[in-house]
Amino acid sequence: PPARYEAEAAAFSAGSTVDSDHTGYTGTGFVNTGNASGAYVEWTVDAAAAGNVPLAVRYANGTTVNRPMDIAVNGTTVVSGRAFNGTGDWNTWADSTLTAALHAGANTVRVTATTATGAPNLDHLDVG
Ligand code: GCU
Ligand code: CA
Repeated sequence: PPARYEAEAAAFSAGSTVDSDHTGYTGTGFVNTGNASGAYVEWTVDAAAAGNVPLAVRYANGTTVNRPMDIAVNGTTVVSGRAFNGTGDWNTWADSTLTAALHAGANTVRVTATTATGAPNLDHLDVG
């Protein structure tokens, strides 16, 4: 199974809160970022060995408007403006997946909102 890293245990931008007022999240809640461009969540994840691994960002967007984010691994943007489209309501979560190269040991994975609406609500990151 993948290693799961909860957003509420990650680092996140000022103005974000850990909330639990919607259903369906894993762990103890989810991160509700501030509604601002540049809002982010950054996970630190471990890899036993260098290589390409699948990453899945679990999110909810209860609006009908895309909330795009850049995805950066170890400080390098690997996807620009990935679409995080509406999931129907704030209780409905979806995985946005990509494959990224990690190095052995600790790696950072940061998602950063690129529009003024901020990030979607973020639940966790699955690695591997
Ligand atoms: C609502 C919702 C929040 C969400 C916010 C947003 O307030 O309850 O969970 O983060 O909208 O638009 O970002
Ligand atoms: Ca929000």
